[in-house]
Amino acid sequence: MPLPSYLEGRLSLPLIGAPLFIVSNPDLVIEQCKAGIMGAFPALNARPPEMLDQWIGRIKSELDAHAKAHPGAIVAPFAVNQIVHRSNERLEHDVDVCVKHEVPFIISSLQAPTAIERQIHSYGGRIYHDVTTIRHAKKALDEGADGLILVCAGAGGHAGTMSPFALVAEVRQFFDGPIILSGAMATGGQILAAQAMGADLAYFGTRFIASKEANASDRYKQMVVESQAADIVYTSLFSGVKGNYLAHSIAEAGLDPANLPEADKSKMDFRSRGSVERRTWRDIWSAGQSSGMIADVPSTTEIVERLRREYESAKQGLWAQSEPFLASAA
Ligand SMILES: Cc1cc2nc3c(=O)[nH]c(=O)nc-3n(C[C@H](O)[C@H](O)[C@H](O)COP(=O)(O)O)c2cc1C
Repeated sequence: MPLPSYLEGRLSLPLIGAPLFIVSNPDLVIEQCKAGIMGAFPALNARPPEMLDQWIGRIKSELDAHAKAHPGAIVAPFAVNQIVHRSNERLEHDVDVCVKHEVPFIISSLQAPTAIERQIHSYGGRIYHDVTTIRHAKKALDEGADGLILVCAGAGGHAGTMSPFALVAEVRQFFDGPIILSGAMATGGQILAAQAMGADLAYFGTRFIASKEANASDRYKQMVVESQAADIVYTSLFSGVKGNYLAHSIAEAGLDPANLPEADKSKMDFRSRGSVERRTWRDIWSAGQSSGMIADVPSTTEIVERLRREYESAKQGLWAQSEPFLASAA
């Protein structure tokens, strides 16, 4: 599908750097946008809430300055992720800040975007909503979403279970707007594969955890590099909703990743009973099945340049492994 006119010429690669709780920060988003892909972060990462105004102000001014210093360069727009749920006490505040700054894209998660739709559309902002099923996709469109992010099997965070082939094809039967495909991708060839399947843009999260700019500990980044798809555990134990986590971080928290206890649905924030108190997201780390394709921790600029080369090779029919794996096989 052709990109919507408001995105034409605004991206140098059809990719969004997905919002990552705790991990995404202004440094990462700024480098993603300078490299020509859309960068995104969860509003909740800016703490206390007053920081959100500063974060967005800084992102806008650094991107403006970069665009002025590099006329002709493609500087991508950025997005802020809003968790639309009654438990999010900041939602009203955070949306007001986004409206003040006229944030170009809002990525809404959990409930359909009804609560924020009017405000975001009032200044021409666009809403892309996260879904894992057809039922939620239809509801989000009915309630004002401009695009759909299809979160499929193997994604980092709260992943779905559907095959991307099935979900994209079914959504395309009733929606011809922007589809962004999420889940278990980390190479340039896979961005092209997402487009061949019927999506407009790809959405990479785990790839950017293992980047220099990400707000993640060296141990977390290294664990992504060392893990394979088989080291990713899909469980609702840690947040009450099914998500993907690194088995080694679960083991380091004192639990057996192969024999996890049943989830206590009344608790959204799991604390293990080990001697060290470990909290989900901070100590039990999320990542997707693309971990098995990630071999290093380069800068964001380097990651995007590499993805662009891999994407161009794949377009010429040269299906490529991720470059670092090619190098190690040579
Ligand atoms: C550590 C981590 C934190 C995440 N936090 C959020 C979040 O706060 N909001 C959200 O909409 N998605 C979140 N996600 C999901 C991502 O935005 C995205 O859908 C996913 O990472 C894509 O799959 P991939 O990791 O296989 O590339 C998170 C994913 C990870 C790995």
